[in-house]
Amino acid sequence: MSELLQVKDLHVSVEDAPILKGIDLSVGAGETHVLMGPNGAGKSTLGFTFMGNPSYVVTAGDIIFDGESVKDMPVDARARKGMFLSFQSPFEVPGISLESFLRNAIRQNTGKPLKIRQFRADLKEAMEILHMDPSYLERDLNVGFSGGEKKKAEILQMLMLRPKFAILDETDSGLDVDAVRTVSEGVRAYQKNRDGALLIITHSTRILDSLKVDKTHILVKGKLVATGDGSLVDEVNENGFAKYVED
Ligand SMILES: Nc1ncnc2c1ncn2[C@@H]1O[C@H](COP(=O)(O)OP(=O)(O)OP(=O)(O)O)[C@@H](O)[C@H]1O
Ligand SMILES: [Mg+2]
Repeated sequence: MSELLQVKDLHVSVEDAPILKGIDLSVGAGETHVLMGPNGAGKSTLGFTFMGNPSYVVTAGDIIFDGESVKDMPVDARARKGMFLSFQSPFEVPGISLESFLRNAIRQNTGKPLKIRQFRADLKEAMEILHMDPSYLERDLNVGFSGGEKKKAEILQMLMLRPKFAILDETDSGLDVDAVRTVSEGVRAYQKNRDGALLIITHSTRILDSLKVDKTHILVKGKLVATGDGSLVDEVNENGFAKYVED
């Protein structure tokens, strides 16, 4: 079976500074991969590059997603193909409520009119999993949301948009103990119900406690220096990155 995502010798620069220096990565449909690495290693850069943020320039290599190169595709085309990125710092969108944002995003991604009854039922279920009060739907997207509420809103978008591949960039950072568990439940629901793949970027392991992890990758100074199974997370947790940082 061909892989869902294939990254080949990917080099990425930001404002002419090389950040990613030859990344090779394969993610199969339904697989969960974890990406760890020291601050500034290039983890978020990889996420932004996958989504097609124009500040991140691919100088060499390719990104094949679902059988097609997405390297030169605009952000919305990648989203339509089933890619999703939850930001490390979700942005605020004044004037657009969470509900209308979700409706628009689903409409844009599918290119079809929204099935409103199904939408409402899915929304109710997802918000229950995430312990989100329905009143959030009427509030402007992320405006005045606390850090943790923004992260939950991101997971809600993932559950509603049903991407084939979701990148969660530190979705667990800044969450209280209960919120980590709740967000983790949301991620598990995504793993269980849809054959969606995940790339979880994290510095902590709490979000991973109840999730199945297929592969773990360590990124240091723009290169993947190690790949292992879920146990690599525990190894890094215990020993830090020192052994990977040394040349
Ligand atoms: N827009 C930009 N302009 C200049 N440098 C940038 C820009 N974006 C990223 N960089 C640099 O690229 C490097 C990688 O940043 P990135 O945000 O990808 O790291 P990270 O691995 O996600 O770190 P963290 O764990 O702190 O989130 C850093 O040295 C950062 O300063
Ligand atoms: Mg980052």
